[in-house]
Amino acid sequence: MNSRKYKVGIIGATGMVGQRFVSLMDGHPWFELSVVAASPRSAGKKYGELMEGRWMLESPLPECARGLTVMDATGDAEKIAGLVDFVFSAVDMKKEEILELEERYARLECPVVSNNSAHRWTPDVPMVVPEINPEHIKVIDSQRKRLGAKRGFIAVKSNCSLQSYVPALHPLMDFGLEKVLVCTYQAISGAGKNFDTWPEMVDNVIPYIGGEEEKSEREPMKLWGRVENGVIVNANSPAITAQCLRVPVTNGHMAAVFASFKNKPTKEEILRRWAEFEGRPVKLGLPSSPKRFLHYFEEDNMPQTRLHRNLENGMAVSIGRLREDTQYDWKFVCLSHNTLRGAAGGAVLLAELLCAEKYI
Ligand SMILES: NC(=O)c1ccc[n+]([C@@H]2O[C@H](COP(=O)([O-])OP(=O)(O)OC[C@H]3O[C@@H](n4cnc5c(N)ncnc54)[C@H](OP(=O)(O)O)[C@@H]3O)[C@@H](O)[C@H]2O)c1
Repeated sequence: MNSRKYKVGIIGATGMVGQRFVSLMDGHPWFELSVVAASPRSAGKKYGELMEGRWMLESPLPECARGLTVMDATGDAEKIAGLVDFVFSAVDMKKEEILELEERYARLECPVVSNNSAHRWTPDVPMVVPEINPEHIKVIDSQRKRLGAKRGFIAVKSNCSLQSYVPALHPLMDFGLEKVLVCTYQAISGAGKNFDTWPEMVDNVIPYIGGEEEKSEREPMKLWGRVENGVIVNANSPAITAQCLRVPVTNGHMAAVFASFKNKPTKEEILRRWAEFEGRPVKLGLPSSPKRFLHYFEEDNMPQTRLHRNLENGMAVSIGRLREDTQYDWKFVCLSHNTLRGAAGGAVLLAELLCAEKYI
């Protein structure tokens, strides 16, 4: 790695995910926070002053961010692109506006690592979980040609809802995974909220999260797709059906999973695959990589949200309750931290992969 740190900008730095990005830059061995940007409403103010009463994380607002003047993500795009080596994007804007803004940064030769869903279905934009499909970043070469960029590009991470069950299913794919039913129990931080800003969620469950079931069923097909002629060709199996519920939990998405295979594995085979699974981030020694991605718990009442969401700095996936099912072959539960592994942490790990593989 270079001795110089990469200069990083965060667009959408004042939001829930943006705050996570800011806190993950604090003391990062490769990255140095240089620019924070948000809407014109926030531009011109000092980040520390602006965030008084708005900072939602348990950890204090990092000193490296306090004195930075918030820039206008849209109006100052050219200036920002000149100040940083790449940006993280976590803006909440209309889809068309995000498509345009992220492409604009890429054309300004500023790589964009995005948490937003807008570009997830652009065929030459890689959507990456670094342990699952790191080879998809190759499509950046053809994306750069399309955009007329030499250094700039867009890479995205997938939706937070699937960051628990797709990693658990991935090492089992070659048993011929055919059919998956999943119910997710999703934390309120996934909507950018806490119990103060969303009091209706106290002692309540809401059985609807707009767009989430479609994402949970479709996005795994791109993750499990293959690179062909400079684009990602989506997989067409397994068949996935999903229900997504909002539950009164601050952080941590749980999933109950049922799966059937062409060649049903034994319990020992599944547990061995989970124990031995090692992705590219561990091999490359990426700083945000968990030492072990998948942790299996034998106890019947585990994993639990409060006990395990922060495992390995919120970057690991916790699995439990593997047992045979009457309708499907196997069932189990799994858990991942939605704003760490599922949002900002997953994007930071992707940025580290892109640096290690020399795309940034
Ligand atoms: N929360 C999660 O767990 C999660 C997980 C995966 C994906 N996401 C996605 O990530 C994105 C951000 O989510 P969030 O929960 O962090 O939202 P949020 O808390 O509402 O924050 C939105 C951010 O976007 C900025 N913004 C809004 N309008 C803008 C404009 N016109 N120009 C520039 N910046 C603008 C806001 O700046 P101001 O403060 O100046 O308004 C703020 O920094 C969303 O697209 C969301 O769907 C969230």
